[in-house]
Amino acid sequence: MPVEFDPARDLKIAPSILSADFARLGEEVRAIEEQGCDWVHIDVMDGHFVPNITIGPDVVAALRPHCKTVMDCHLMISPADPYLEAFAKAGADIITIHAEAGPHLDRSLQYIRSLGCKAGVALNPSTPESVIEYCLDKIDLILVMTVNPGFGGQKFLHSQLPKMERVRKMIGDRPIWLEIDGGVTPETAPLARAAGVDAMVAGSAVFKGGTPQHYGENIAAIRKSCG
Ligand code: DX5
Ligand code: ZN
Repeated sequence: MPVEFDPARDLKIAPSILSADFARLGEEVRAIEEQGCDWVHIDVMDGHFVPNITIGPDVVAALRPHCKTVMDCHLMISPADPYLEAFAKAGADIITIHAEAGPHLDRSLQYIRSLGCKAGVALNPSTPESVIEYCLDKIDLILVMTVNPGFGGQKFLHSQLPKMERVRKMIGDRPIWLEIDGGVTPETAPLARAAGVDAMVAGSAVFKGGTPQHYGENIAAIRKSCG
């Protein structure tokens, strides 16, 4: 499903399936969609860019038929370019690469768009937003990491709130989503929303409780906390 930018900037909630039951991923994807999520966030880790290993394009392809909404693929891999086509073919709608993953961000973003996907760029907590200043016209989504990438269940880094505000200013009225990822809860989400964030990834805060009913209550609690 091609994903289009929403000028109304309604809040998008994207549960991270890193916190789902990996033995039942298809079922879990259907459950979070039935319980009201907007996007499905998929964390791809290579054990090199981050100290953890998760899933590759074959799992994304296997999940595509189960996902009716948007596949928001977060690539924590380096290099990323050799794998972009495989993720696009697997059915990713948004492909987000890290600004720190390689030397040719501008070219990689153009390549993602040429594959028919929305191009996202993620910034690690220590990375200043100035690294994307000269390629804003090639970006559809900016992901401000609110944890150091690699694991779910970590604490939200409040140090990133001023960065969110500065990125919001940089974006201006361009059709670019501002997303955050890591430590999002009903307590931290409203702070980020006030800083101008459009999309929020939440793993442990959505999947805690372990049943679809819990997922629905958890998603609603984050949405409600943002007014
Ligand atoms: C971390 C991942 C996140 C993570 C979020 O590197 O990119 O998407 O799964 O999990 P929580 O919401 O539990 O911090
Ligand atoms: Zn992520």
